[in-house]
This record gives sequence, C-alpha cells and structure tokens, in this order.
Amino acid sequence: MDRTPIFLGLETSCDDTAAAVVRAPAGDGAGPGEVMASVVLGQAELHAAFGGVVPEIAARAHAEKLDLAVEAALGRAGVGLRDLDGIAVTSGPGLIGGLLAGVMLARGLAAATGLPLVGVNHLAAHALTPRLTDGIAFPYLLLLVSGGHAQFLAVEGPGSFRRLGGTIDDAPGEAFDKVAKLLGLPQPGGPAVEACAAAGRAGRFALPRPLLDRPGCELSFSGLKTAVLRARDATVAAAGGLAAADVADLAAGFQAAVVEVLAEKTRRALALAPAPVLAVAGGVAANRAVRAALQAAATAAGARFVAPPPALCTDNGAIVAWAGIERWRAGLADPADLVARPRWPLDAGAPALVGGGRRGAKG
Ligand code: KG4
Ligand code: ZN
Repeated sequence: MDRTPIFLGLETSCDDTAAAVVRAPAGDGAGPGEVMASVVLGQAELHAAFGGVVPEIAARAHAEKLDLAVEAALGRAGVGLRDLDGIAVTSGPGLIGGLLAGVMLARGLAAATGLPLVGVNHLAAHALTPRLTDGIAFPYLLLLVSGGHAQFLAVEGPGSFRRLGGTIDDAPGEAFDKVAKLLGLPQPGGPAVEACAAAGRAGRFALPRPLLDRPGCELSFSGLKTAVLRARDATVAAAGGLAAADVADLAAGFQAAVVEVLAEKTRRALALAPAPVLAVAGGVAANRAVRAALQAAATAAGARFVAPPPALCTDNGAIVAWAGIERWRAGLADPADLVARPRWPLDAGAPALVGGGRRGAKG
C-alpha cells in the first residue's frame, strides 16, 4: 500500500451520535494516528427533562442524526467514501437501539463500497485510545472510568484485555451524574461537579472511602453517593436549605473521595500488574483532580502516565475508527452480517461483577 489507511468510525452506544475519520500511522506502527475530523452530536438536551438517558429517544435521535454526522466528518476531513480503507462501528456493549442504528448504517456503507467492516467493543475503543494519541506499546495498565464502566485492564494486544478489578455497583461517572442531580447541578454531572468543587472545602463533610479497607482493586461508588444524599439532607434539615457554599463543599468532598479511592486502587493495580505505562480513559478521565492523582500514583511506581485529551476521553468516533484500524491490521475484520451485542464483556475469562448500571452489567 503506497499510502496510510484511513478509517471511518461510528459511535452510537449511549447518548452521543458520533462519526470521525482517522488516518493510521505509517507501516504497522503503534501510533499515534491522525484524527482528520471528529463530529460529536450530543443528546443532552433531549434527555434533560427525564434525568437520565431514555433509550427510545436516544435510538431515534441516533437514527436521525448519524448520517449527518458521517457527512460532516467526511466533509471536514476532505475525503470521500472512495478514499476510505474501512468502516468501524461500535457494535457493543450499550443500548440496543443506538447500537442497531450504528451497525445498520455501517453495514450499508460497507456493502455499498465493498470496504472491510469492523465491529468494535466500546470499552476496547476507550482502552486503545492511548495508542491513538501517544503511540504507546503493549502491554500497559489502563484505568477505564466512564459513565457506564470502571475497570482496571492489563492491555496486552488489540483484542487482548485482562481485567484486574472493577466496580461492583455504580460507575464513577454515574456517581458524578447522580450527585450533580441531588445537588441541583446540570447534566452531564462530571464537569458540573468538578467546576463547583473548585470553590468548596473537601474536608467539611465526612464521606466514606468505599472498599479501601478491603484488599484488591475492586471499586464501589453507590454508598458514597448515598452518603452525599444523607449529608445534603442533614444540612437542609439543620439550616432550612442548601446555600451555594454547602453545594460547593459537598461537591468538593465527593470528588475528593472519588479521587482518593481511584488513586489508592491504582497503586494496588500497579503493584499487582507492574507496567511501564499507566493510561487512563473514559469520560471521568477528563477530571483534572483525577488526572493529577493518577499522575502521582504512576510516578511513585516508576511508570509513565498517559492521559488522552478530554475530547478523546469522552465518547467519540475517532477512538472507534482507531480501534477498527488496530483490529483490521490484526486480521480481525468482521463479516457483512455483523450484529449488535448490547452485553459484551472485554475480558470473557474474568468472573462477572455484581451490579448493573445504565449500560447493563459492568462486565
Ligand atoms: O466515556 P463517556 O463519554 O461515556 C460513557 O461511555 O459512559 O463518559 C461520560 C461520563 C459522564 O458520567 C460524565 O459525567 C463523566 O463521564 N465526566 C466527568 C467529567 N467529564 C465527563 N466526570 C468527572 N469529571 C469530569 N470533568
Ligand atoms: Zn464511553
């Protein structure tokens, strides 16, 4: 091949309708790749009135907007369908209606163009992002922290992930979103809580550090969220309402608890599976306090710390296109009748984790 391959990537697994065009590095290089264009059409305003993602509304919006996102991505990248070398699509895990919208469009595009079709696991797309952005080599340790997932993964190849631990109940992004809701802050809750926490005193409320008293690197966030609710209600009962300073202190206390737990469990994961690089991915990796604590944990363990830019930490099509390129180069393209898999654990060998969140089982 006299030029480097270009992939289109589609993402519709939750509440972002996204398409992107990514150029692979020369040769069979590990990266970095070039994000030629990335278009993300969020649905936050459609779900705002319901306090969470409504699957039927999400599915309809994906079906309406995905072709527009594809057109915009191709236009911004300055390429046509005939310039592409493959089509990648998130085929699971996620909400079935959204996954179907993406998989069906990808199948249609692949059939019309004759291009290879690659179904991508959404978690694998997050997990491989540090290679797209920084070109790091396998193996590395990844902490994936998003709205639907939390897990420590030893990433050993484009299709090889070993789970060291994960959440037994809520995902951390889900906890940020729920805490935002109970503090009257807007959705998505992560950025809102982070902004509010900047003005707060983290030490004012005594909040728990879930599972720090137990060995290993399993995580839990549901009890912490309930503790914030109790502290809020106690403050309202004592003062007759919640002042802006109370909201800031609760946000700061919650964020500090999440950060402390993630940092300590990361230290344990690095001790369990020493790696030259600690990488972080998923929407919660956009949080500056989380990043700073993980950076410190990596440095203490003698590992390099890699955190993709926030726009590539949250859901987007570029990380899907990249994972598609990696799978395709490893000979892992899919047949034309690729199907959506709403439940699709990354590490099929690991025991299932207890609990289910907005994306279903956290496996
Ligand atoms: O990876 P992502 O875009 O979607 C999922 O696959 O879940 O992650 C979205 C999640 C949301 O829960 C959002 O509140 C959280 O990531 N998030 C943050 C921040 N930015 C986004 N959480 C904490 N701090 C942030 N700055
Ligand atoms: Zn995601």
